[in-house]
Amino acid sequence: MKRMESSFRRHRRLRRTASLRALVRETDLSPAHFVYPLFVQAGLHGRAPIESMPGQDRLGLDALTAEAAELRELGIRSVLLFGLPSYKDEVGSSGWAEDGIVQKAVRILKEADPELVTIGDVCLCEYTSHGHCGVLSGDGQVDNDASLPLLAGMSVSLADAGCDIIAPSDMMDGRIGAIRSALDASGHSQTPILSYAAKFASAFYGPFREAAESTPAFGDRRGYQADGANGRIALDEALTDIDEGADMVMVKPALPYLDIIRDVRAAVNVPVAAYNVSGEYSMLMAAAERGWIDGERAIDETLTAIRRAGADIIITYHAKQWCRAQASRR
Ligand code: PBG
Repeated sequence: MKRMESSFRRHRRLRRTASLRALVRETDLSPAHFVYPLFVQAGLHGRAPIESMPGQDRLGLDALTAEAAELRELGIRSVLLFGLPSYKDEVGSSGWAEDGIVQKAVRILKEADPELVTIGDVCLCEYTSHGHCGVLSGDGQVDNDASLPLLAGMSVSLADAGCDIIAPSDMMDGRIGAIRSALDASGHSQTPILSYAAKFASAFYGPFREAAESTPAFGDRRGYQADGANGRIALDEALTDIDEGADMVMVKPALPYLDIIRDVRAAVNVPVAAYNVSGEYSMLMAAAERGWIDGERAIDETLTAIRRAGADIIITYHAKQWCRAQASRR
């Protein structure tokens, strides 16, 4: 039977003009929800490009004030801090030194812009000589329980320096409880914890490990980071962390785990963050550099997808580029 022209649904009616499309758009991006990662390197003056992450730099302490001003100008109000310390040892003691690189960076950033939200990444891998996220026991395994007081000490040290949010990325069990107690006992009961709850062992961290010089000297992280083939464990991890006192939970990486972001969003009532990691960033940038994709559009589509999946907060190296492109669209 031949259908009348008017008898089928005309989906295109609402796609006709830019204003109509904007009127019915479900997902909006805003810099208010972006977190921009910063790599701060001890002893560095100015900035040094990170080869594996085109467009990203390591920053010396003397570059931070200008960086804070630039972020403010762009509307980016939160940063996640990683440190490249002046020395590494078996236990990662430069991670909780009062004059540690991130501790110094936070003081400078807060001085430059007291309203900037500073998030301290808590993990030993950037500070240990072996590059693992916790301390090692005699047999070369990562010792979960022996790592907890060190992670808690690092958290207190970062909070003392002025970090607004503590974000443990080490994936030791029981760390959220240990960190919460230590923060509360040291006068930081108001400091929230953003837990890297569902962090998967991923090839997409490759460029970061070059940026942060945190590649494990032996073995890999599969003994503590989650197996990407498992979805339910992400929910278990998120619920455990909330139970132990996490104020927000993270899914990481983002793009290969959009289903997990959606599931975690549905399962919890705290804010959910997604980390659009270094490998996702560099893949897109490499293709854009070659002219194989339109970088600006691909960035917007990527971040929109992460938000549509359910992320309240997006940690992304694309934050500045997105904001600059947005300004030039206006
Ligand atoms: C530290 C840490 C890593 C990332 C964030 N925190 C590396 C890792 O677990 O190996 C990765 C971030 C990225 O790839 O952008 N544990």
